[in-house]
Amino acid sequence: MSRGTFIDLCYLIAAIGFILALKGLSSPKHARRGNIVGAVGMLLAIGATFARPGLSHIWLMIVAMVVGVVIAVPVARLVKMTAIPQMVAIFNGVGGGAAALVSITEFIGQPTKLVATYKVLEVLVGVLVGSVSFAGSAVAFAKLQELMTGRPVTYPGQQVINAVVAAAIIGLIIAILITSSTALLWILLVLSLLLGVIFVLPIGGADVPVLISLLNSFTGLAVAASGFTLDSNLLIVAGTLVGASGMLLTRMMSQAMGRSLPNILFSAFGSVITATGGAEGDPARPVRTGTPEDIGVLLAYARKVVIVPGYGLAVAQAQHVVRELADSLMKRGVEVFYAIHPVAGRMPGHMNVLLAEANVPYEELKEMDEANPQMASADVALVVGANDTVNPAAKSTPGSPIYGMPIIHADEAEHIVFLKRSMRPGFAGIDNELLYDPKTVLLFGDAKDSLQKLVTAVAHA
Ligand code: TAP
Repeated sequence: MSRGTFIDLCYLIAAIGFILALKGLSSPKHARRGNIVGAVGMLLAIGATFARPGLSHIWLMIVAMVVGVVIAVPVARLVKMTAIPQMVAIFNGVGGGAAALVSITEFIGQPTKLVATYKVLEVLVGVLVGSVSFAGSAVAFAKLQELMTGRPVTYPGQQVINAVVAAAIIGLIIAILITSSTALLWILLVLSLLLGVIFVLPIGGADVPVLISLLNSFTGLAVAASGFTLDSNLLIVAGTLVGASGMLLTRMMSQAMGRSLPNILFSAFGSVITATGGAEGDPARPVRTGTPEDIGVLLAYARKVVIVPGYGLAVAQAQHVVRELADSLMKRGVEVFYAIHPVAGRMPGHMNVLLAEANVPYEELKEMDEANPQMASADVALVVGANDTVNPAAKSTPGSPIYGMPIIHADEAEHIVFLKRSMRPGFAGIDNELLYDPKTVLLFGDAKDSLQKLVTAVAHA
């Protein structure tokens, strides 16, 4: 077998590894294995690349890889679970930026007048999409890291300005295809970076994870464009896989939020908070609060308890203590499971990852469609730091921003217990009628403290 064939074979195996990795990552049970398969595929691809004949600047590549590893490994190890979206944003942005740089280098390094038009177009697509992804991801990172406001940033004529910049970019691409001008390429680069920034500004805090998934898909496309430019089948396959899976994930997230992608990208959702009364809620409407002891008795003598986790569980890092409570109830013969909403928390699979960290068995996690038919027979729905994902306005209030979003039917349980710190709304910024329902009891406080008190109360019940 020639060296070239051997390298191609390695690339083929690596590409199969990437596909199997995605398959593995689609279920929490196999995610770890999927990750390892993907990493091994990547290692094989890098090894095969170094074996290519006529490779130059090897030391430069090694130094770049060492710098990347030295930065990425501690960051990935130390990052808090709630900060994973911004870590993905920054890694993704760097990928887009790298793809754009590859395209620029190719453009400058070749006498473009002698190159076929479609080749130049690939380069320009790489520059455009890679730069949008780089600049957009940087702004998304700043929003999630609270380096700037997380709310949508809007200004008069915003959509028109975005459209003008987009039109100018299309004009520039046509002009560069005709003239092969390097000066115009630099203008294209600047306008693409600008588009990345202004495209992301009006997208609000918790819509940003959806945006990051979309930018991730853009990076994939930019990498695939680099693959065409560099004649690398592996880059084409890997880029297309990232592009397609990012797009599917974006679609799934929008569907789970009951909103269209254009609505997420262009409606500046979350810029208006309509909830009444802030932390105190609506002063005209009383709510029923309970003591940990009362709620402990309610839970201990229930037949079936459904735990509905949400963003607050992640903020409070209460995954271990919620498991402790569930275990102690199960020991008493209570049937317990967790009802997982697809967009509970702030990133896809947030609750699955969080609860897996506390070694909650997968069988105890039920996806929304599986959990909902069982809600009416539950004695208690214990809502831990969730709000929008159980808000009945999604079913009953046509004008509501979350109308149409599928929810966990906590309202159908005989009793509903909310663990939250105040009457503040969830991400959507709207009131939740369920908090005022006569069946509902609230226990105010940090979810971890409240759960700890409930563990003690159940033990003494
Ligand atoms: P939210 O509706 O955001 O509600 C979280 C609740 O947790 C709040 O009511 C908050 O009330 C409470 N909380 C915060 N910190 C707490 C703590 N330390 N202890 C106890 N409670 C605490 O959460 P959700 O039900 O999980 O819904 C997720 C939302 O994010 C949805 O609107 C969804 O569309 C959106 N979103 C999700 C994703 C993904 S992929 N997951 C992506 C984009 C957007 P207090 O402040 O009163 O405590």
